[in-house]
Amino acid sequence: MTGGLVDLVLAGGTLVTPEGLKPGAVAVQDGRIVAIGNDAAMPPAREVVDTAGCHVIPGAIDVHVHFREPGFSYKETWASATQAAAIGGVTTVFDMPNTNPPTADASAVRAKLALASAQAFVDFGVYGYIGDNNLDQLAPMAEAGSVAFKLYLGSDNPLVPCPNDGAVLDALAILAELGIRCTVHAENTPILAWRGAKLKAAGRHDLAAHLEQHADIATVEAVSRIALFSEWTGCPIHIAHENCRHSLPLIAAAKMRGVNITAETCPHYLYLSMEDAPRAGGSALRVKPPVREAGHAGPLWDALASGVIDMISTDHAPHAPAEKKRASIWDVAPGFPGVETSMRLMLTAVHDGRITLPDYVRIACEAPARAFGLFPQKGSLQPGADADLVVIDMNREGVIRGGDLHSLGNVTPFEGFRTRGLPVMTFLRGTLVAKDGQIVAPPGLGRPVRPRRLRAG
Ligand code: DOR
Ligand code: ZN
Repeated sequence: MTGGLVDLVLAGGTLVTPEGLKPGAVAVQDGRIVAIGNDAAMPPAREVVDTAGCHVIPGAIDVHVHFREPGFSYKETWASATQAAAIGGVTTVFDMPNTNPPTADASAVRAKLALASAQAFVDFGVYGYIGDNNLDQLAPMAEAGSVAFKLYLGSDNPLVPCPNDGAVLDALAILAELGIRCTVHAENTPILAWRGAKLKAAGRHDLAAHLEQHADIATVEAVSRIALFSEWTGCPIHIAHENCRHSLPLIAAAKMRGVNITAETCPHYLYLSMEDAPRAGGSALRVKPPVREAGHAGPLWDALASGVIDMISTDHAPHAPAEKKRASIWDVAPGFPGVETSMRLMLTAVHDGRITLPDYVRIACEAPARAFGLFPQKGSLQPGADADLVVIDMNREGVIRGGDLHSLGNVTPFEGFRTRGLPVMTFLRGTLVAKDGQIVAPPGLGRPVRPRRLRAG
């Protein structure tokens, strides 16, 4: 501190932690929180931001995004995606390895970190890919800075083929040793391939065929297999984009017997069902795994509230608008953007009584940081933590419009959704990055995060 002055104080608002709500202030020096408490107890500051009428939360951490570079800059760039993230109240993202080249060795990890560092408006981690032929690269990728690893069970993307179960077991044993979490796309590949071929042969090209291909049992089997492999090897695992009510008892049971397993779900599985397809853009709703029939969302909300599902992610997966609007469902690119709309959708859920605001901070900030070895540097309001702070106005109403989003691929199934509650200011390590839907800082502020080693399960 220079002359007793700190850099910044956010005063007059309400602080939110998983434990509850408290009127109070946050003081920031050199990018870190140095004090929290009553407004009157704050040190003098060079700048005081009045947060009266608003809530202050830690920045959200989205552990599942596809920011597309290198290789697919026409869909999204690190600059466009991290602008969307900052405006959406997300201050840390973990990027998936299905880029071109895929993030499959140490030099690809370093290259992606360099690309991101030059452009990013928020902090980031990158995933390393696990395949049949790169097991010798897992430790070097971790050394080069991979925040976690991604295991595709159930992918037909030739860039990131699914490894065989023998390689999976070897990979999990290596990651258990390294103390790093493995995020899993849990679907059974042969079931998907068999059903997909049958549906295509039957001349099906509709969105419902995509759902029939991704039958519930395909994910139930893969969740149960990977929980068993995790238990066997001790590797901490994370179930990506949980979407099916039948998987929830398996995750709960694995947790009960001490498996180091965490899980995420995404706003589209909570808010949408196949019945929304006409409103949500028809086949543009295509995403892998699919949005299922009505009847899954309720149990997913319950699992979030009870902690069976630990966190919310987005699976932000933008595509060029033309790629979302093809005639056959098999040609429609799967996925859509999410980082800019997730927080406002979840704050709307607070108004709807689905979750509480402290629940939101637990599932969007604290739980991701804990699961991936970043807590309490990220995801907390404790002194010493990075001053990643989001000011939210719980009364700001709005309507989601794809055209307003900052992603290059801006076709969203939430088009026309009314929301209540909005992030209005986002600070990254003490620097104001986004305000009222606008970016107010230069690119390249974002830095890579380095996880702590996790304990094997
Ligand atoms: O819908 C999806 N889109 N699911 C995936 O697993 C990949 C993602 C993408 O990269 O487009
Ligand atoms: Zn994904």
